[in-house]
Formats: sequence, structure tokens, C-alpha cells
Amino acid sequence: MGFSIHWSRLAALLCALWMGAGVRCACPESNLQMQGGNYTLSNNLEEGSMLVYHCPEGYYPYPAITRLCQANNSWRPKPKRSPAQRCRLIECPDPNVLEYGSVSPPQEKYYVDNETTYECYSGYTMQGSVTRACLKNGKWSGSTPICRRDSGDRCANPGIPPGASRVGNSFGIDDTVRYTCNENLFLVGSSERVCQENGEWSGNEPACYYKHTFDTPLEVSKAFGNSIKESLTTLESTVDTQEGRKIRISKNGTLNIYIGVDISDSISEDYVNKSRDAVVKLITTIASFDVTPNYEIIFFSSELYEIVNIIDLMDGTAKLSDVKTKLEEFDIDRNTGTNLNLVFEEFLEKMALIKVRAGENFKEHRHVIIVFTDGISSLLINSADNNKKCSILYILYINKHVMLHSATDIYIFAIGDDILDDDLMPLTAGTGGTHYFRVKDLEKLQDTFDEMINEDEVKGLCGLHKEYTDNRNELKRKMYPWMVVISTQADGPPKKCMGSLVTPEFVLTAAHCVFGFLPEKVTAEIDDGDNKIKKAKTLFYHPLYNVTAKKNKGINEFYDYDVALIQLEKYVVISTDVRPICIPCTRETNAALHLVDQSCESQERLLLKTDLERLNFLTRTSNVVDLKDVHAKLGDNRYECIKHAVGVEGITADTLRDAVTDNFICTGGREPFRDHIACTGDSGGAVYKNFQQRTIQVGCNIHGKVCTAGGVKESTSNSRDFHINLFRVIPFLKGVLGRQDMDYAPLVFLEN
Ligand SMILES: *[C@@H]1O[C@H](CO)[C@@H](O)[C@H](O)[C@H]1NC(C)=O
Ligand SMILES: *[C@@H]1O[C@H](CO)[C@@H](O)[C@H](O)[C@H]1NC(C)=O
Ligand SMILES: *[C@@H]1O[C@H](CO)[C@@H](O)[C@H](O)[C@H]1NC(C)=O
Ligand SMILES: *[C@@H]1O[C@H](CO)[C@@H](O)[C@H](O)[C@H]1NC(C)=O
Ligand SMILES: *[C@@H]1O[C@H](CO)[C@@H](O)[C@H](O)[C@H]1NC(C)=O
Ligand SMILES: *[C@@H]1O[C@H](CO)[C@@H](O)[C@H](O)[C@H]1NC(C)=O
Repeated sequence: MGFSIHWSRLAALLCALWMGAGVRCACPESNLQMQGGNYTLSNNLEEGSMLVYHCPEGYYPYPAITRLCQANNSWRPKPKRSPAQRCRLIECPDPNVLEYGSVSPPQEKYYVDNETTYECYSGYTMQGSVTRACLKNGKWSGSTPICRRDSGDRCANPGIPPGASRVGNSFGIDDTVRYTCNENLFLVGSSERVCQENGEWSGNEPACYYKHTFDTPLEVSKAFGNSIKESLTTLESTVDTQEGRKIRISKNGTLNIYIGVDISDSISEDYVNKSRDAVVKLITTIASFDVTPNYEIIFFSSELYEIVNIIDLMDGTAKLSDVKTKLEEFDIDRNTGTNLNLVFEEFLEKMALIKVRAGENFKEHRHVIIVFTDGISSLLINSADNNKKCSILYILYINKHVMLHSATDIYIFAIGDDILDDDLMPLTAGTGGTHYFRVKDLEKLQDTFDEMINEDEVKGLCGLHKEYTDNRNELKRKMYPWMVVISTQADGPPKKCMGSLVTPEFVLTAAHCVFGFLPEKVTAEIDDGDNKIKKAKTLFYHPLYNVTAKKNKGINEFYDYDVALIQLEKYVVISTDVRPICIPCTRETNAALHLVDQSCESQERLLLKTDLERLNFLTRTSNVVDLKDVHAKLGDNRYECIKHAVGVEGITADTLRDAVTDNFICTGGREPFRDHIACTGDSGGAVYKNFQQRTIQVGCNIHGKVCTAGGVKESTSNSRDFHINLFRVIPFLKGVLGRQDMDYAPLVFLEN
């Protein structure tokens, strides 16, 4: 391969020289057009330029999808007059493969939006979808219809997917069935399946794909999510959740994740960017599982660019928190050629190193390899031959590896406009579902990773939430599943405050929001699908909360310890829409933060570590929820922040430290960032910080006096907000939420 690479560089150089001498050095533009569509070129008509055809939705380019301008100024594939390059209506594979049943309407070809219905002959019962529609991604909706009857065989009839034919008609133990796909189609999934003793077929259901067939994000999400979750949850251990349940998560074993992202020039920059974003998202999502995998991340073309070295991560000389930044900052200097061999070699080398270091413990290591690529080795002069050689090489490598350590899964996300499926599919490895994905919409792939945390298993984890870039109000429940709106009923219209769900039975808010009210006058609005308005049963105030405590010092209103807990009459139902937030000094928060050290202090150090820590809280105006950004002024910045309280509620320079005690977090102002200010209705709301995909509440909003109208308002240079630092009121929280002798499940607080 090395030879070829040098050759192409030399060619590029020569080309430049020729161009300087006025010699034309480009591929011809003739015969490139396409009926019904158009094309884009990655680098005009110059060598290495990739031509990509585009068709309207529901159509695909035929016969070529892409063309490459080769070093000798010719296109590969070469444009031909016949068949003419055009946009064709998307087709789905032939459904007339149903055994013991009929398909209607019978057609020669089935196009996008065509519908089919299936019926079984008498004596047979239908499994799968009775009607199916041909979808825009070249697949049939629903699942393969199968007509079955009780045959006494150990395995059920596995059916025949559209476009396929099957050899093998007996379904007893150890019987094998083999599938092939019709012309122009290729098989994804298991081409051979064996009836196992447990009555299940080995492998997974095959499907026949056209070059224009893609997996939808939902399909990827389900398949990849289920499969990788196995890696994330197999090594069992239990952890208490704020819901009081035990869940299974991987604790003891070590998970090593190796990610390769193809950045060669056959893949458009947009794809590269989105793969990179998908990697960031994947890392964040995995982090929400309480597991702390080690990562090796490599960008590759014909060379490797190591973003993170797994050994450095293990040694602590690199930090996972820096990985995101490194990925985002990586200057993609793209290069020709795709050398998959090199990436796999590198991954294997790292595994070998880990094996030496881990010794006996290596058997507790699981490995997951994820590669984003199109598999195309572009620009290599005799690339067809080279590709074959390389394929054989890396398949050998992988087989050898997989034989040595069975705990390895290899996933391929096939991206790009033209994919070398035949080369890529054999690279996948591992059990438990699909490992090969043809992805068109990489943006949606990010949501895909989000879906992985949608499962019952992780449902109770505190602070887990979804992230959407979309700001629609109906998504807010999933983004802020812990959000609560509190109403108190006196004379006149009800007074509203914010609160946060901290367990299925308790809401944290500001004491001044509910002080003086009987529980029956207090309600909490949490839409868990049951009754949206939850009644309060008991109110607990911080014992030191006393607004008039410092009146004798001239401080008219003293808001220290302004926190309260509302016990609800009924448990709320936990789901992806309704979930507690993490609060400081609990064991679960420690797990969310991936802290080894079990101490409250290390949590605080991590969450409020710099003198200027960015935090958020929510505001609600007539049912629309918005986010406010603030910066906590800590350490040396604190005094400059709090001194603006002088003049408010009778506070003087002398009484400042009495009024604004160390229990307050100060935010606001315009320096160095323009903060938002709290408004009246924001009182009681969580002031929080997101740590990967988990939300941890660090403060509780108490002041909202400057802004009474509500909404997202920017701070003036002098306006300030104060929030109770939850780290300073732990004994109160623990005294209520951590009590062992009550009829509710206690939260486990750290000893110190
Ligand atoms: C190219 O085709 C695509 C898909 O049909 C269409 O959205 C786009 O507007 C076209 N661009 C030009 C320049 O014709
Ligand atoms: C199938 O789709 C093609 C193309 O859209 C259309 O012409 C044809 O009428 C459809 N057939 C049926 C039975 O709907
Ligand atoms: C898990 O790790 C702990 C300490 O590292 C060890 O004591 C325990 O035996 C391990 N459990 C299993 C199931 O390997
Ligand atoms: C890809 O990301 C880089 C750096 O983040 C940016 O400069 C570039 O414009 C992006 N390209 C596309 C096509 O989005
Ligand atoms: C250009 O090179 C490719 C392979 O490198 C070869 O298949 C093709 O025939 C060449 N075309 C011309 C016009 O020489
Ligand atoms: C609040 O503080 C004032 C002044 O110290 C005291 O008189 C009053 O009793 C306190 N109220 C409560 C409820 O403790």
C-alpha cells in the first residue's frame, strides 16, 4: 500500500507542475449530467475529486452513485451513454417469497409507497406484518411475514426475507438454513443460521439490501443500543438509585472502547463533522451508564491521527473530560486513501499492551470496536487489487484476534455516499444482534445514542436526561425531567415557584415559597401521566430558616437556609419524562460523577471547581420553559459579586457578611459573561450543572426581586442573584431524605 500512496503523491506533484506549465490536468466534464437530478464535486474536476449524484427524495442515482477523478484524468466508473445516468424511483426487494401464503398485489417491481398485504393458506397462522409499505430507505415497513404451523420441530420456521431465497427446510436441532439474495442485492445479517437446542436460531435475521437501502436512525438505535448495552451491563453489580431500586450495571470489569473515524476525502466534510459529533455524543451517552470505559480514538485516512491514547487514559495522563475538546478542536487535514488495516492494527496493538499490563485480570476486560467508514480506498492507483489484499489482511487479523479474546464486539457504521459493503461487512464481530449499519442521516444518529438511555434499566438513575438541540416546548419534559412547578393557594391567584424532584416522593424548593402554608394549600405540578397536580403531604423547612432572624442587625429579610422539602401524598411514576435530579453528597451522585473517592468534598471540588463556574436554572412563563445561564462567582470573584447586595433590604457594608453568608452562591452581572437574572417565579428552582448526561443540582434559587415580570432577562452590571449552596445544607437534606426509619425509601448519603 505504501508504494501506491507515494505514487499518488508523486502524481499530484507532477500534476501541479504540469498545471504550472499550462497543461490541463483534470477529468472531463462531458457525460456527467443526470436526468432528474444533479451532482456535486468535492474538488472541481481535479484529481481526487469525488463526484456525488443527488436525486429528489424517493429516488436514487443510477447506475453510478459517485465517481472519482483518477490520477490519469479519467472517471471511475466511467460515464457511459447507456444506460443513461438518471434518477430512479426507489424499489424494495421482492416480497413474493412467502411460503404457504399469498402476496397481493402481485407485481414485477415494488416502488416506494406501494403497499402489500399477506395472507396464509388455511391451517397456517401468520407471524409478522399483515400489510407492509415500501419505505424511502428501500426497506419494507414492519417485519417479515411468516406462515407457520406446528410442525413439532424444535425451531420455528425462520421465514424468508424479501429478495432472498433460502436453502434448508427442516428445523430440528442442528439443522442449518442458508440464505442468498437475488441479483443486485446484498445480504446483511446472518447468511447461515443453525437451530439451537433452546429452540432459537443462531445469528440474526438476514435482510437483502440494495445499494440505495439505508437503516433508519430508529433501526440503528434499537439494534446498536441493545447490542452495546449488553457490553455496558453484562458485568453485574448493583447500585442504589434515588428511586430506591437496585439496578444492574457494570462495575468490576473494564470496558475498552476503540473508535475509528474515517476522514479520507471520499467522505464529505459534512459526514466527517457529523461522525465526530456522533462520537462525542456516544461518549457522553455511555458515561451516563455509570461505567467508565477507556477510550482509544483515532481519525484515519491513509495515516492515523490519534486523538486519545487508551494507555494514557488508563494511566491518568489523559482525561476523558479533555477528549471532547480535543475532538472538537481537531483540525481535519484530510488525506487521500482509507487504510482500515492500519486502524485495526493499531487497535490490536493497544489491546496487546493492555493485556500485558492487566495480566490475569485481562479476562475481565471487554472490548468494543466502532468504526465509521465507507471502506473506500480512493486514489490508490491499482486500488481494486489493493483493497482486496487489505481486506484479506485485516479480516485475518480480526479473526485471529476474535479467536484469542471472545469478549470483543466490532461495529461498523458504514457512512458516505458510496459504500464498499462487501469489504466492510465481514469485519463485524460479536454476538447479540446487528453489528453493521448503513447510515445516511448521521445527524439523527446522535438521537439514536440518546435512545439508548431510554431503557427501564437506567430509568431510575438521577439526573439522567435527554439533550435536544431542538427547542420545542414539548421536549422540555425529557430535557428537564426533574422540573416541578409549585403552587400555593392563599387569597387571590395562586403563587408559583419552581422546585426539583429529588426522589419519587420529595420535591426540593425554597422555604419562602411554602413557609406559613398548610400542606393542603400546596401543590406540585409534575406530569407523570397520572394526575398532573400532586398534593403535598408534609412540609419540612430547614430548622434555621428565619427571615427575621437578623432584623436587630438591620437586615430586614434574611434568606439563609431558605430551603424546604415537600413530601408528596403519592409517589410519582418514574419515566424518561419524570426523573429525580441528583443532589450533592449522595452515593448515586458519586456514581454519576464517576468519582472513586466517596466524599462530599470531592463532589464539590468537581462541580464548583473554578472561580467562575457556569450553572443553569429554568424559568417558566405561561407554560413555556426556558433556560437561564449564570456564572457562579467563587473564590476570589466572590466578594466583588456579593458586595452589590449592599443597599438591598437594609444591608450595609458592615452587615454584608452577616446577610450574605458563605451558604450563598452569587451570580449575575455582565463580567466576564453577561448572566441572566432570576425572576420571581424562578424561586425554589434547581441551580444545576450538567455532568455528561446527568444533571446535578448544586443550588436552590431564592432571590428573584430584581425581575418580577418573568422570562429570560439579562443582568445589568449591578444586579445579583443569590442561591443557597446545597453543599451547605446537607444535614437538613440527609435528615429528611436519608432517614432510615420512615415509610419511604431513603437516599444513601456519603459518610463525609
Ligand atoms: C440538486 O438536486 C437536489 C435534489 O434533487 C435539489 O434539492 C437541489 O436543489 C439541486 N441543486 C441544484 C443546484 O439544482
Ligand atoms: C406503485 O408505485 C408506482 C410508482 O409510484 C405507481 O406507479 C403504481 O401505481 C403503484 N402501484 C400500486 C398498486 O399502488
Ligand atoms: C469486584 O472487585 C472487587 C474489588 O476490586 C473484588 O473484591 C470482587 O471480588 C470483584 N467481584 C467480582 C465478581 O469479580
Ligand atoms: C466541519 O467542522 C469544522 C470545524 O469544526 C468547520 O470549520 C467546518 O465548516 C465544518 N464543515 C461543515 C461542512 O460543516
Ligand atoms: C486510468 O487508470 C485506471 C486504473 O488506475 C485504469 O483502469 C484506466 O483504464 C485508466 N484510464 C485511462 C484512460 O488510461
Ligand atoms: C426568628 O428570629 C427572631 C430574632 O432572633 C426570633 O425572635 C424569632 O423567634 C425567630 N423565629 C423562629 C420561628 O425561630
